[in-house]
Amino acid sequence: MRMIFIGPPGAGKGTQAARLVERYGIPHVSTGDMLRAAVKAGTPMGQMAGALMADGKLVPDDVIVGIVRERLAEPDCQAKGVLLDGFPRTVAQAEALDQMLDSEGIALDAVVLLEVPDGLIEERIVGRRSDPETGRIYHLTYDPPPADVVGRLVHRPDDTEEAVRKRLAAYHAQTAPIVPFYEAKGLVRRVDGVGSPDAVTARIADALPG
Ligand code: AP5
Repeated sequence: MRMIFIGPPGAGKGTQAARLVERYGIPHVSTGDMLRAAVKAGTPMGQMAGALMADGKLVPDDVIVGIVRERLAEPDCQAKGVLLDGFPRTVAQAEALDQMLDSEGIALDAVVLLEVPDGLIEERIVGRRSDPETGRIYHLTYDPPPADVVGRLVHRPDDTEEAVRKRLAAYHAQTAPIVPFYEAKGLVRRVDGVGSPDAVTARIADALPG
């Protein structure tokens, strides 16, 4: 299975991806997680990306395409497929992915578009906390963390109200145009991302082929 998750910031891509990869036994490739790891490691790419991310801007296409190309060449993706979360995020990235897959004679199975209205996004993001040890995502109201992990949870530096507004603007201007790109290929599965995480997981499972 090779699928892409698209949706605005805070739509629940990471939350749902964690569930789907377990069900399908495929690697979860999140460009946001890869960039945050590079920021933490203090690599030159991480330093450049960290400043852009904190400001709610996208990282340049050539940088992202390079790291995804390397990741997709690894044995687990070659053998099992992949769930791409947060990539592609521009038409140029979608075209680059098409070229990568075409060159190997591989086809995408589905593009899941998680739809959540802008009015719900800020509250979801500002209440998000992540566990750096397990990668588990919580929400202070909708998915409260257990008491024994609260002390180690982190709040992402790009989860401020100001950065969220910029990230939403970037989504509408730069990422939404890839939806017609994939609609023309008949791959888009629109899924309502409002409701409990379990309800959303069930809708995604219903929407996926086979
Ligand atoms: P990235 O990490 O990809 O962030 P994003 O797309 O903005 O998405 P988020 O991680 O914020 O949200 P999500 O949809 O995963 O929601 P989650 O499940 O956590 O990218 C970060 C930055 O990296 C970008 O801004 C950019 O700078 C850079 N970048 C990354 N990829 C790039 C690329 N390809 N090109 C260029 N730049 C790139 O859920 C959010 C919250 O809501 C959580 O608290 C969760 O518990 C809660 N929640 C989830 N589901 C529900 C539900 N059904 N009901 C109520 N609450 C829910």
